[in-house]
Amino acid sequence: MIFNTLVSFLALALAATSTPILQPQQLDVITPHITSPTEKDSWTPGSIQTVTWETQDIPPAFVNNSGMILLGHMGTTYDSKGRPQTTENLNTTCPLANHFLIGAGKVNVTVPLDTPPRDTYIIVLFGDSGNTSPQFKIQRK
Ligand SMILES: *[C@@H]1O[C@H](CO)[C@@H](O)[C@H](O)[C@H]1NC(C)=O
Ligand SMILES: *[C@@H]1O[C@H](CO)[C@@H](O)[C@H](O)[C@H]1NC(C)=O
Ligand SMILES: *[C@@H]1O[C@H](CO)[C@@H](O)[C@H](O)[C@H]1NC(C)=O
Repeated sequence: MIFNTLVSFLALALAATSTPILQPQQLDVITPHITSPTEKDSWTPGSIQTVTWETQDIPPAFVNNSGMILLGHMGTTYDSKGRPQTTENLNTTCPLANHFLIGAGKVNVTVPLDTPPRDTYIIVLFGDSGNTSPQFKIQRK
């Protein structure tokens, strides 16, 4: 799982800049589409939320793979030439969920109480591949 996760991070980082390089490996990975949260969603710190994803395209050999969900937020950094770079700022310290079945298609997560409000949160689902949701809000009631 640790190895897979590292591969996923690399794949994600590369995918953001140069998707074509990864083409051969994409034969081995799954990219379930996240159906919740959507860009209309707004979560509250401390609340329980159900993350869902499509399972019909997951090959049978992958359904028992262990999954992990990370919370991140979109941001911009600037490289040495001042060009903007999009960052996902994934919180790798505290996964929202871990050790669930990818084939389940859903898992409940608890939004940490100390999550700062932002409009640009994303979650990334790791099975053997990273897959990012639309951006959504976490805001205080
Ligand atoms: C996944 O787990 C279920 C329940 O343990 C089992 O019946 C099934 O054969 C497993 N599938 C694979 C591909 O390992
Ligand atoms: C997941 O969260 C939903 C909505 O809060 C709740 O109805 C459901 O019982 C929860 N499931 C589990 C397994 O905790
Ligand atoms: C990761 O999430 C935990 C729980 O919300 C939080 O305490 C920690 O500060 C976060 N780390 C970063 C780098 O945002």
